[in-house]
Amino acid sequence: MDNLDTLFKRISHGVYVIGVTDGTVQHAFTAAWVMQVSFKPPLLALSINPAHYSYQLLQAGGVCTVNVLGLGQYALAAHFGRSGKDKMAVGEWQQSPNGAPWLSESLAYFDCKVSHYTDAGDHKIAVCQVLSATHLRPGQPLLYADMGDADGSSGLY
Ligand SMILES: Cc1cc2nc3c(=O)[nH]c(=O)nc-3n(C[C@H](O)[C@H](O)[C@H](O)COP(=O)(O)O)c2cc1C
Repeated sequence: MDNLDTLFKRISHGVYVIGVTDGTVQHAFTAAWVMQVSFKPPLLALSINPAHYSYQLLQAGGVCTVNVLGLGQYALAAHFGRSGKDKMAVGEWQQSPNGAPWLSESLAYFDCKVSHYTDAGDHKIAVCQVLSATHLRPGQPLLYADMGDADGSSGLY
């Protein structure tokens, strides 16, 4: 088999910051494994490592935002792609009606409610209903393939 890390990066993904809350704590993490999976109802699926602190909050709160990063927002992607409980000091955050934080600097954001989870190997798939979608500014999306090895994934196969 050829190099999976290189070839998986040929499958196009954007880069997103996922805002989560348990109803008290606001937090966020970077994700590339995000996709639309239904028209009616509109559903997005996120693949999340259950070891992440963000997963605890997502499970507890059952809500999230999917914030679309634009070209040039590499530093934001890298910042939220690290663990640490003080990450929300970076970025301008507001609160959606369901309580999840959304990022003003993003191109657009989706306000979501978790519908259900499915197991996927070492990750969980959170299938999320889109409650609202908001365009914030024009721009081209940041692509996962342009992030190099910012997520350290080359060592994980
Ligand atoms: C470009 C990029 C893409 C990432 N994609 C995902 C992803 O799709 N799912 C996931 O669980 N983690 C992904 N990560 C890793 C998490 O963002 C990272 O482990 C982060 O520390 C999790 O945040 P937390 O520990 O504060 O919960 C990605 C990281 C980067 C830099």
